[in-house]
Amino acid sequence: MKRIIVAIDGYSSCGKSTLAKAMAKALHYAYLDSGAMYRAVTLYFLDHHLDYNDPAVVEAALPNIQIHFERIDGQNRTFMNGKDIEHDIREMRVSEHVSPVSTISAVRRAMVQQQKMMGKRRGIVADGRDIGTVVFPDAELKIFLTADLDVRTSRRHLELAAKGIDADWHEVQRNLEERDRIDSTRADSPLTKADDAIVIDNTLLSEEQQLEQSLKLARERMPN
Ligand code: DC
Repeated sequence: MKRIIVAIDGYSSCGKSTLAKAMAKALHYAYLDSGAMYRAVTLYFLDHHLDYNDPAVVEAALPNIQIHFERIDGQNRTFMNGKDIEHDIREMRVSEHVSPVSTISAVRRAMVQQQKMMGKRRGIVADGRDIGTVVFPDAELKIFLTADLDVRTSRRHLELAAKGIDADWHEVQRNLEERDRIDSTRADSPLTKADDAIVIDNTLLSEEQQLEQSLKLARERMPN
């Protein structure tokens, strides 16, 4: 069967990574969490007390940031410069800065270049904001996920709690709204539905239902 690329885009906390991971598992494909890469860069700037609004600082820092993914005990883990940063990149302090960092063209160029390399052999499910429009415009399947804002907030709040991160529900919602606003209005590669993307609203869908719908779409695009 032909190995395809599945591109999943959408607003923050729509369940993109849940769907992408489940699809990758079912199809025996690699999973690319592009948001984790922008989070890693953000963590680097914060931990090194670097001013990311200064283009010279950003240019000097980017070559020092090496990101890779590993699967450990069935879990996807993000590594930066050899260190497992999977937990740190999910913290609120990173969530608060990641959208402004993602507007920087030099950062996007560096990340997109690496992401394209990861998809060279196809057989990959990637999620993010510009996957179907910029990273893999030739993806065989593009899904644009949406869900009601309150439902997204509660999902994100629960996810943080499960990771031992105690955040205020309203603060989580404010962060989602703010990130959606910045992500969809930035000049470079804003979040937007690709013309050929299929919209799935999962507000009232179970994880199994959205997986089933998406796998059906994927299999339709895999000629023997
Ligand atoms: O998917 P996430 O919430 O972990 O992504 C974090 C941020 O990274 C998101 O607010 C915007 C940015 N991002 C991006 O600009 N482009 C992508 N392809 C993925 C994420």
